[in-house]
Amino acid sequence: FKTESLSGTQIMITAGPTWEALDPVRGITNHSSGMMGYALAQAAIEAGAQVTLVSGPTALTPPERAKVVNVVSALDMHAAVMQDIQDKHIFIGVAAVADYRPVDQQGQKIKKSQDEMTITMVKNPDILADVAARNPAPFCVGFAAETNDVEAYARGKLERKKLDLIAANHVGGEQTGFGVPDNAITLISAEAATPLPKQNKYALARQLIAEIAKHYQTKNA
Ligand code: C5P
Repeated sequence: FKTESLSGTQIMITAGPTWEALDPVRGITNHSSGMMGYALAQAAIEAGAQVTLVSGPTALTPPERAKVVNVVSALDMHAAVMQDIQDKHIFIGVAAVADYRPVDQQGQKIKKSQDEMTITMVKNPDILADVAARNPAPFCVGFAAETNDVEAYARGKLERKKLDLIAANHVGGEQTGFGVPDNAITLISAEAATPLPKQNKYALARQLIAEIAKHYQTKNA
């Protein structure tokens, strides 16, 4: 794709998992490595965009020219996104945000006592849906990681969250998805479903950014 296809465009990307603390040493998280989000940030920069990367805890080195905001929990990520979203043209939610967080966060390490313990959890805000509900809203792209009925669930999310595009990917297999270098997705808009075949996440990210740029320019033409 044209290297300057996104010049002058401000893009915010969320990436990685979130960490929902139970106490100072324990928490609930997931297998997201952050690789796909970081690869998209890199590809967007190469396409000429200015990128803000709001990242949960990962072991990755962010692209040099990205503005990086490091966060831990879903609530932190929500606050960081809302704080900085005003001037963004495109929002890409790649982070695997925890759906729930423990109601209570203990200030001290929880001690072992009874044979069973119950953790009560409360729903986290949906960052992507909140961004898409803004008026005016940036061009919004979501990710849908599913183990089954991938396209149908993804299309449901596109409509429910009022997104412009959603990248649906199959997880739970061993070849693609969380923590592995390759990924395959289907990019879904209101009009079409475009399969992007299995490849290295960096190559896939470049394809995805080219598609996003095309759809964004069509919408704003
Ligand atoms: O509903 P689900 O979690 O499967 O939707 C996934 C999409 O929504 C991803 O783009 C993810 O980054 C975003 N999301 C979010 N905030 C949440 C949950 C999901 O931004 N609390």
